[in-house]
Amino acid sequence: MSATLIGQPLTRLDGRPKVTGIATYAAEFQRPKLAYGALIQSRIANGRVVSIDLSAAKSAPGVIGILTRENAPRFKPYPNDLTKNGAPGESRVPLQDENVYWVGQHLGVVVAETFEQATHAASLVRVQYEPKPPLVSLTDANPIQPEKFIARERLQAKRGDVSGALASAAHKIEVVYSTPIENHNPVETTSTTAEWEAPDRLLIHESTRGIKQLQKIVSTVFGLPSENVHIVCKFVGGAFGAKGFQWSHTLLAAAAAQLVQRTVKITFTRPQMFDSAGQRAHTEQQLSVGADKTGKLVALRHATTTHCSPVSEYTEPCGNMSRMLYSCPNVEVSHKLVRLNLTTPCPMRAPGEAPGVFALECALDELAHKADIDPVEFRLHNYAEFNEYENKPWSNKKLRECYQRAAEKFGWARRNRNPGSMRAPDGSQIGFGMATAIYPAGQQKAGAIAILNKDGTVSVRCATHEIGTGTYTTMSQFAADTLGIPIEKIRFELGDSEFPVAPNNGGSWLTSSVAPAVIGACRDLKKKAVELAGSWPNDSEQLANLFARSGQEQIQAEFNSEPNREEREKFSFFSYGALFVEVHVDLLGQVRVKRAVGVYDMGRMINPRLARSQILGGMLFGFSMALMEETIPDEKIGRIVNANLADYHVLVHADTPEFDIDFINEPDPHMPDLGARGIGEIGIVGAPAAVANAVFNATGRRVRDLPITPDKLI
Ligand code: MOS
Repeated sequence: MSATLIGQPLTRLDGRPKVTGIATYAAEFQRPKLAYGALIQSRIANGRVVSIDLSAAKSAPGVIGILTRENAPRFKPYPNDLTKNGAPGESRVPLQDENVYWVGQHLGVVVAETFEQATHAASLVRVQYEPKPPLVSLTDANPIQPEKFIARERLQAKRGDVSGALASAAHKIEVVYSTPIENHNPVETTSTTAEWEAPDRLLIHESTRGIKQLQKIVSTVFGLPSENVHIVCKFVGGAFGAKGFQWSHTLLAAAAAQLVQRTVKITFTRPQMFDSAGQRAHTEQQLSVGADKTGKLVALRHATTTHCSPVSEYTEPCGNMSRMLYSCPNVEVSHKLVRLNLTTPCPMRAPGEAPGVFALECALDELAHKADIDPVEFRLHNYAEFNEYENKPWSNKKLRECYQRAAEKFGWARRNRNPGSMRAPDGSQIGFGMATAIYPAGQQKAGAIAILNKDGTVSVRCATHEIGTGTYTTMSQFAADTLGIPIEKIRFELGDSEFPVAPNNGGSWLTSSVAPAVIGACRDLKKKAVELAGSWPNDSEQLANLFARSGQEQIQAEFNSEPNREEREKFSFFSYGALFVEVHVDLLGQVRVKRAVGVYDMGRMINPRLARSQILGGMLFGFSMALMEETIPDEKIGRIVNANLADYHVLVHADTPEFDIDFINEPDPHMPDLGARGIGEIGIVGAPAAVANAVFNATGRRVRDLPITPDKLI
């Protein structure tokens, strides 16, 4: 029995299929009788549809049928528990009314023999509207007070007397940070292929990280038993928070397929990824922070205003880490939500934490500077020894070690605290900046089935997802490790709604949720085999004997795992990190991240190679957020003006700094079986603040509204 596979830096098992093109993504499944759908989308941001003229579109070449409100089925409402939780993306099913809430809203589907014909015909559809002026800016609308974010996080929290403590604080800042709308931009655009296998049986190939949720939504809306809706998704070409909410295109593809009695595929164009696939909301965050003479925090107020669409209450929870990241007796966190005529926002990598910790960690830097204390020392001075918001001990927290090790590796001691005092030979200004990273370590219910096949291989199945993070690899590691057999004998299968339940692939909880189920199923399978044969079969003769004795074609075990309630109630679970960056700011105000050092405490490392990739990718995402990313709606008409990758900039390979990423790698004693906590999102958290803080150190300019583009520095 080897315990050696866990912690090994194995290369990803899906690497070869991906680079050789064998891996099949949602848009690539060839199906019989395939037709192509093109969305009819609203060109106004607010108002109602008066009429839709289809005459030109209907007679265009290749057109098979057109779905609009006129001939759409009467969809049933979304499942109540899901709309309450924020997903699906909208609270309203499509094509049941004439209302228009944003530019790009789906008004129908044109189905044709080819994608090009469908796209052309859709361009011939003439819609008459009764327009109303749209609300596009955060300051235009009346805010509401959301109570909860996806039903679990309280958005308003208060302890002590913030105003009183601020009034008498020796050092304080009161500033506003803002972050723009951002889009996920995965390489793979959203795609769905809907196929009615029988009048009441639907097969859907979809790029989704919520297979079971999509199954529930589609079956509810079409009034079908859930087992009659089969969702398949073997690979996801990047998600980053997209592809988790279930948008209306899936329902429209299924309804269009029903209408034309063909299989219908809808694949988004890049511009549609900006108006039909969710995005990160715009945020404005007021930070009021005070410290006493020694630099001890006495007051922290974090008030966020953010936006949603008229048909959802999804709220970017910016203040949640401010409740407990530092020790502070007086804390107030609040969120206000404004409904705008823009497409519905949704989670994007570290929703809430990415923009929220940007504001918090910049504010700490500003206050440390005011108090003339080193930013690392300032954080150590305000270290939270327990979760003061929940009044609970941490499950395990080695953040102090993260600061110390990362500072050492980076050479933080060489930093000159006076802004604008370090220069590179080419004349660029050099800045050193740092920030804390933190992300909740969630865990969900999951199931898995392990099957011993006659050839000695073991199939392990779970309706989970591979969004590029390494699910195939790590789950195979757990299975092989538990069974004590070579990893080559494991066939880990995912991405099929007929497999045992898995949660949505989000919240950085995939490994800690699915691994206990995989371990449990493999443990039980091994027990079964040992009970039947005395030992695990190691050669073909033993295998044959085992199967003869069992009288079955397959020997299998299924296991359902649940988070350990007692532990989860007693302790507070987070992953932590500290990151340090060096930026160079040239004469034109262009910022380049030259070096990045990060040290993370995420419990036991399952596969350090894949973990490093997650952190590195997350940091790049954060640097991109700091310096480039911004979705810009036209203020008058609500149309996104840069809905393409030429005008919406993302960091690329040429922008990649020198990385040094390290892990504390200490098992969390309160994560039974695993010792591991989440790693998927923490990489982005803190990265934008570290850059902004470094830019201040380089230039003396405090840029509080992202992205930090050259116009803000010269
Ligand atoms: Mo994350 S955007 O909560 O999957």
